[in-house]
Amino acid sequence: MAARIVILISGRGSNMAALLAAHLPLVVAAVISNRPEAEGLALAAAQGVATEAVDHRRYPTREAFDDALAAAIDRHQPQLVVLAGFMRIFTPAFVQRYRGRLINIHPSLLPAFQGLHTHRRALDAGVRIHGCTVHFVTEELDHGPIVAQAAVPVLPEDTEETLAARVLRSEHRIYPEVLRWWAEGRLKLQEDGRVLLERAAFPDAALQVPGSGA
Ligand code: GRF
Repeated sequence: MAARIVILISGRGSNMAALLAAHLPLVVAAVISNRPEAEGLALAAAQGVATEAVDHRRYPTREAFDDALAAAIDRHQPQLVVLAGFMRIFTPAFVQRYRGRLINIHPSLLPAFQGLHTHRRALDAGVRIHGCTVHFVTEELDHGPIVAQAAVPVLPEDTEETLAARVLRSEHRIYPEVLRWWAEGRLKLQEDGRVLLERAAFPDAALQVPGSGA
């Protein structure tokens, strides 16, 4: 039976859309947002995917919100919870509940530029290479075992917007591929926290790792 995932979003949902468009060998059981007005919810609904909003503003504490979110997620019985532009920080209890089953994409080459405004900070720092990272989620924000990364050049004429767009294109390439490996049983998080990838490679780009020679 195909594995089930739930995707969590907060806004636009372009990574979620890329995951749906990839027709992965898994069931997207639901897309859940902490913002009822998230554009991505309408996109998902238009594709026949169940959607739900758990509005964080309606809960008095982070714990109460996380409990409500976990209840909404668990109703769909996913094997993996996929963060795709989900902009809330979890309590440790939430992260522990989904240990090894919570995966995220972050718009920088971690451990550089954890947190927000990664593209502006990359420009300010003057780095020549920037990118995105898919990683398992741990209690520490934007940490956790790295599964894959894609790098892009930072060009002299770049603005925050042009750089963000270039990184986003790589996000849309690597996230579906990582989930394909997971769906096919080729991606595991070991007990020791190490990521195990079997026969996993991006065939087409030297700046995406693992590459074809890996
Ligand atoms: C992406 O850049 C993602 O890496 C970051 O937030 C952005 C979400 O974009 N966490 P979208 O909602 O997937 O279009």
